[in-house]
Amino acid sequence: MTLLCEGKVAIVTGAARGIGREHALLFAKHGAKVVVNDLGGAVDGSGGDTTPAQEVAHEIEAMGGEAIVNGDDVGNFDGAKNMVDQAINHFGQLDILVNNAGILRDRMLVNMTEEEWDAVIHVHLKGTFAPTRHAAAYWRAMSKQNDAPVFGRVINTSSTSGIYGNVGQTNYGAAKAGIASFTIIAARELGRLGVTVNAISPSAYTRMTDYLREYTEDEIEERAPAWVSPTVVWLASEEAGDITGRVIQAGAGMVAVCEGWRRGDEVEAMADPVALGPKIREMCGKVRKNSGMDGFELD
Ligand SMILES: NC(=O)c1ccc[n+]([C@@H]2O[C@H](COP(=O)([O-])OP(=O)(O)OC[C@H]3O[C@@H](n4cnc5c(N)ncnc54)[C@H](O)[C@@H]3O)[C@@H](O)[C@H]2O)c1
Repeated sequence: MTLLCEGKVAIVTGAARGIGREHALLFAKHGAKVVVNDLGGAVDGSGGDTTPAQEVAHEIEAMGGEAIVNGDDVGNFDGAKNMVDQAINHFGQLDILVNNAGILRDRMLVNMTEEEWDAVIHVHLKGTFAPTRHAAAYWRAMSKQNDAPVFGRVINTSSTSGIYGNVGQTNYGAAKAGIASFTIIAARELGRLGVTVNAISPSAYTRMTDYLREYTEDEIEERAPAWVSPTVVWLASEEAGDITGRVIQAGAGMVAVCEGWRRGDEVEAMADPVALGPKIREMCGKVRKNSGMDGFELD
C-alpha cells in the first residue's frame, strides 16, 4: 500500500466524532502522526469531555500509529496556539492542519439571537483563522530558517450551506462561505512558503445531519463519513502540491470541484439610477442564476 503521509504530523480539529474522526484514522493509516483535537461538546457546542478524543487516539495507537489528544477550543486564539505548539513540541514538527471542528445553532434570521450568531462564527470562522494563523507563523519561521520553502498543507471545511446557501443557517452559511473565501486568500498568501490551502465541502451522515430526515440503510452507507476523508488525505500529501485555493465537495457518492464567483455581464457606469435600473434587470436576466443546494443552477 502506498502511504501518502508517511512521517508527517497532522492536526485534525474536531476529530473525536463524525468526519474528523475518519480523517484522523485515515491519516494514521497513511503513516501520519496525529493530534486529535476536540473539546467534546454537544452539537450546539455546549459542554465538553475529552473522552471521545482519547478513544480515537487509542484506536490509532491500537493500529500501531502515534496520536496525542488536545482539548483546546479552536476558536480561542491562545488555545489554537497551544494546540499548534503541542504538535511541534511533542512530534518535532507540524506539516498538515485540517480545520474540521464545527457546531450548529440553526434559526431563521428574524429569530436568531446574538449568542447563536457569535457561537457559530466563533467555532467555524475564527476556529479556522486561529489555528491557520499560528501554523502559518510556524511555517514562515521554518522557511526563513532554512531559506527554502517548507511542506505545509491546510485543509478547511466549508459547506454547501455556505457556498450555495441554505435557509435557516445565516450564521453557519456565512461562516462556511467565509471559510471558502479565507481558503482562496490564504492560498494566495502562503503559496510562496510552500503551503497549499484548500477546502472541502463534505456531505455525511453524522450527529450533525441525522436529524434532517429519515435515511435508508443504503443512504447511511453511501453517506458514511469515511467517504469524505480520502479527498482530505490526498490533498495533504506530497502529490497534491500543485492544488491550492480549491473548494472540493466530497461524500454522499461523489467528489466534485466547485467553481467560484465569476464576473458576468456588464455595462458602462451610469450616473442616473433611473436609466441604470433597466440595464441591471437586463443583465440579471442574461447571466447564470445562483445555484440551488445541489450546486446546479436554479430553474
Ligand atoms: N455532516 C455533514 O454532512 C456536513 C456537511 C457540511 C459541512 N460539515 C462540516 O464538517 C465538519 C464536521 O462535522 P460532523 O458532521 O462530523 O459533525 P460532528 O458534530 O460529528 O463533529 C464535529 C466535532 O467538532 C467538535 N467541536 C465543536 N466545537 C469545537 C471547538 N470549539 N473546538 C474543538 N472541537 C470542537 C465537536 O466536539 C465534534 O466532535 C463541521 O465543520 C461541519 O460543519 C458537515
